Parts: sequence; C-alpha cells; structure tokens
Amino acid sequence: MKAVQINNYGGTEVIEINENAPRPTLGKDQILVEVYAASINPVDFGVIAGRMKDMIPLKFPITIGGNFSGVLVEAGKDTTGFKVGDEVYGQALVTNGGSGSMAELAASNIGNSALKPKKTNHEEAASLPLVGVSAIQALEQHIKLQKDQKILIHGGAGGIGSLAIQLAKHIGAYVATTVGSDSVEFANNLGADKIIDYTKETFEGELSDYDAVFNTARGDSADKSFEVLKKGGVLVSMTGAPNSDLAKKYEVQAIGQMTNTNTENLNRLTELVDGDILKPQIDKIFPLSQAKEGFEYQENQSPKGKIVIKIK
Ligand SMILES: NC(=O)c1ccc[n+]([C@@H]2O[C@H](COP(=O)([O-])OP(=O)(O)OC[C@H]3O[C@@H](n4cnc5c(N)ncnc54)[C@H](OP(=O)(O)O)[C@@H]3O)[C@@H](O)[C@H]2O)c1
Repeated sequence: MKAVQINNYGGTEVIEINENAPRPTLGKDQILVEVYAASINPVDFGVIAGRMKDMIPLKFPITIGGNFSGVLVEAGKDTTGFKVGDEVYGQALVTNGGSGSMAELAASNIGNSALKPKKTNHEEAASLPLVGVSAIQALEQHIKLQKDQKILIHGGAGGIGSLAIQLAKHIGAYVATTVGSDSVEFANNLGADKIIDYTKETFEGELSDYDAVFNTARGDSADKSFEVLKKGGVLVSMTGAPNSDLAKKYEVQAIGQMTNTNTENLNRLTELVDGDILKPQIDKIFPLSQAKEGFEYQENQSPKGKIVIKIK
C-alpha cells in the first residue's frame, strides 16, 4: 500500500512516499480503516522532527499523520460497536498507538475512533478530529462557556481557533479573536465580534474584563492574556502549562489542556457537525503524492483552517 513515511527525523525534506508499505498489523482493540483522507496537525511536525523520540521510541519507517476519515475494513477481536463498512473518523497517530493516518490503510485504537459526521465528505471529516475535540474540551468542559459571556480566542484562523469561534458564537458568547492580517475577513465570516490583527495591534491594551481566554497561539499570548481576564475568569492554553504565579496574581483559573480524542469527545463533535453548528474549514486539499508539498504549505503559508491529504 502507499504511505507517507519518514526514515530519518528532520524537517519536511525527510517526508517520502512509499509505494510498497506493508499493511498495518491490527491490534485486538483496533480497527483497520481504508483511509479516504487525512489532515495535517502541528503535532505531525513534532513526530517528523523526533520531538517525542525519547518518551516514545519508534522504529523507522514511520507512517506520519494522525487524523483520518475512511471506511472500516476489519475490526479487531476485542472491539465492539463498529462493523465492516462503517464510515469512521478519528486519530491514528503513531505516538498514540495507531499506525499513522497518511496511508491507504491505517490501524486506529477503537477508543480514538467514532462514526464520522453524516453531513460531511471524507475530506471534511478528516479535517476535524484533533481540532474539533480541542475546541469542545476547552469551551464546553473546561471553560463551560455561557451565553453573553466574553471570550478571547487567540489564533482564530487556525485549525482549532476557526472551530472555537463557531462554537462560542453558537453558545451565544461575545467573541474577540486575534489573527494575522490575511485572515481578518476569514474571522469575520466565522462570526467573530471583534477581530484584532496581532501583527499590528496588541490585544492586551484593547480588551478587559473577559470571562475566558482560549489560547491556541505560541509565544507570549498566554502570559499577556491574564491582563484581559476578570477575577474568577478562566484561561485555557493549548501551548503548554500557563504561568501559575500569574494565575494567582490575577485570581483566575489557568489550565494547560491536553486534548483527548476519545470516542465520547468525537461523538460530541459528530453531533455538533451534523447539527450544522460546526462547519469544517479547509484551506487546501493535496493528493497523497504531494503530501510533502502539503506540509510545506502548512508551514509557510498561514492557512485559514486545515490542510487535507486526499488518499482515495
Ligand atoms: N495540548 C494539546 O493536546 C494540543 C492539541 C492540539 C493542538 N495543540 C497545539 O495548539 C496550537 C494550535 O493548534 P492548531 O491546530 O490550531 O494550529 P494552527 O492551525 O497552526 O493554528 C495556529 C494559529 O495561530 C496563529 N498565530 C500565530 N501566532 C499568533 C499570535 N501571536 N497571536 C494570534 N494568533 C497567532 C496562526 O496564524 P498565522 O498562520 O497567521 O501565524 C494560526 O492561524 C499548536 O501549537 C498545537 O501544537 C496542542
């Protein structure tokens, strides 16, 4: 089978297409999926660079990619709830026990898989798992965002941010977001109430008394966000543990989120997408043969939403 693989750690230059990769071995609590589409996430660059190699040793060649959408072709002997022919989506990242999603076949843990939304095609569904579950976990589970509350979402044009804006607006919150210059119109179309171009303005001077901040940007956005929160507010950051001294000083709750793409969270994502509440945001689709170009595009072009790799 064809697979997008690496044989060395490095940058996008190590990405190769293997036309004769072996079929993945299926664990007893896994499903084998004929992958129709996969999507690129920042964590995939971490796998390619070997950032987790000391914690999770892997053998080359490594099939890259985590998020997938496809059709179940075989179910492991300890799996329940799925049958051959089901359209499924989820997370098959190698560091998570999967076989890697950017291949014609992928083994995914049953616990990281769910029935895909019916209203999407496979490319749209593949764009969703990690980013959609990240938005749900932050807004519904950690922040418990309510109607008429004010939330600042950093990185509103990114994979997570573009879904978080939609979910926050559905809840009925007032949404401010930070984006780059090219993405102002995109954030406006997603329904954001106040858009701050982070290349030209500083958000911390503009905003105050916010109930919540959801940070999906790297750098100092998390630290500076304490200034815009009201006492008792909540900061959830995707990019590491927030500063606990600042949390104490500003009397707010600060959470470093680890996203869990489990079946329950994926089912909630399916429900929100099939309920027309979340619309997948795809910037560009690349064929499997051009997966490397897809990663280069993700790295260099500030995509609005997601980059998808079409496999079938
Ligand atoms: N902890 C976890 O479990 C977990 C899970 C998923 C993701 N993550 C992390 O969460 C982050 C976001 O993920 P993602 O998939 O949404 O990434 P993404 O699609 O690359 O989006 C990140 C967005 O942030 C924007 N940005 C960069 N610098 C900014 C700044 N200073 N202020 C405001 N926005 C800024 C980028 O815009 P430009 O392109 O214009 O710069 C981009 O639109 C990544 O760092 C990822 O590794 C963590």
